[in-house]
Amino acid sequence: MKVFVRNIKETAFVCNALILPALESEGENLYKDINKSLNSIIDSVISSKEFSGKYNELCLIHTKGSKIKPDRILLIGLGKRKEINRDKLRQAGGKAASYLRNLSIKDAALSTATIHSLNLSPVDFIEGGLLADYDFTKYKKEEVHKGIEKITILSGENLYKRIRGIETAAAATHFARNLVNTPSNYMTPSALVRAARSLKKVSVKVIERRQAEDLGMGAYLSVAKGSIEPPKFIVITYKSKNIPPIALIGKSITFDSGGISLKPSEGMEKMKYDMAGGAAVLGVIKAASEMNMPVHIIGILPAAENLPGGSASKPGDVVRTIGGKTIEIVSTDAEGRLTLADAIEFAKRFKPSAIIDIATLTGACSITFGNEAIAMMGNDESMIEKMKKASEETAENVWQMPLFDEYKDYIKSDIADLKNSGGRSGSLASSAYFLKEFAGNTPWLHLDIAGTAWIDKDRPYIPKGATGIGVRLLLSFLNLL
Ligand code: BES
Ligand code: MN
Ligand code: ZN
Repeated sequence: MKVFVRNIKETAFVCNALILPALESEGENLYKDINKSLNSIIDSVISSKEFSGKYNELCLIHTKGSKIKPDRILLIGLGKRKEINRDKLRQAGGKAASYLRNLSIKDAALSTATIHSLNLSPVDFIEGGLLADYDFTKYKKEEVHKGIEKITILSGENLYKRIRGIETAAAATHFARNLVNTPSNYMTPSALVRAARSLKKVSVKVIERRQAEDLGMGAYLSVAKGSIEPPKFIVITYKSKNIPPIALIGKSITFDSGGISLKPSEGMEKMKYDMAGGAAVLGVIKAASEMNMPVHIIGILPAAENLPGGSASKPGDVVRTIGGKTIEIVSTDAEGRLTLADAIEFAKRFKPSAIIDIATLTGACSITFGNEAIAMMGNDESMIEKMKKASEETAENVWQMPLFDEYKDYIKSDIADLKNSGGRSGSLASSAYFLKEFAGNTPWLHLDIAGTAWIDKDRPYIPKGATGIGVRLLLSFLNLL
């Protein structure tokens, strides 16, 4: 979907569908001053009660026989003036775009009068449209591409810079969604390497099993032992400014069966999404490099597949990380933190200004928040504040959770420095506390996306399946640095 801006009157612009956002009970007079014929069309569906402007209500009107140029008008309700906000506008954009997509409409335009009257920007509406314009049909026999080809914002503003920004971020979000939606028999650690190598303006280094052994990444390697898929510890550098790097670490378990601590079979198919953190990191770097963002990022994806098998790690095993700490594996299903422990210690070798890890880490996160929030924990106030701001900007909600020192006791081991699970009670925080022990004094932030990386029901701008969460959030965070 290509986005254009033209300063033309609604009624004079030739297109398949003109989108008219309208407020509840204010619709009658919407275009009174702009165009009489337009206004009478809107008036007729309002008086017949086919449309009232309720939030996300849709009404399609054909204009054949009238004097106006667009073939159709799509009314989309914005609800009450007092209740509309930036994300609701994004959602309305998503709703309108999905509707037009399903009708295979190729060429649309957006009227901006109402949006401007609300002191909001049409760019947010369009962002919702771009994010909604997605499907994953790669493994279907009849591959259908219904995407909208073109949407024109009817406005005299100079919006191109912001539009390029949302286009790049939405494309990167789609890129991440594709990686996560891809089944684990295709989306292996080696496939993640290929995805990383597809990025431009970055350097990619892959630490293979042998080298990881030599480096002493015993915790990370222990996760891959039950699988025949070779682990790939992927390090991506994007540097366009000579400053200390920020390390972005994404959990990249391409399938999490639980290992010997096997998960119940019900719903296990969803555990292909256990690499959503890694996908988000790739998406962020893709967008940052395409936009030439003046940053220095080290992306780290400790990729592995967690399977049971004759050579798999067993509960009770003890492993040693690259930094020398020992970990007792009490559950092979608490594998993400094993890979992240080595990744965090490895990241510190680059003397980063900050480390952010993003991970589908705990079932407790989705129990706590459902699909509504990313759990955030960290050791640095200013990073936490910036992430909250980024969350507001993007509506990728983060919610800070505590890291009380009492959690240290939860992960004490009788025979090693730490154990990898403190049990079910308090596991959202105790798992983050485990990571904190590896971050040490480096400013660090942990984002648990277990609840938000996958949804089972369509949302206005997120079709069901992989959400691509984290891409827009982290890009917005990087913009605040
Ligand atoms: N990948 C899972 C967490 C998860 C669960 C993500 C459900 C998305 C949906 C993680 O590796 C895991 O298995 N965590 C366990 C840890 C426990 C064994 C200590 C959990 O949270 O149940
Ligand atoms: Mn697990
Ligand atoms: Zn996992």
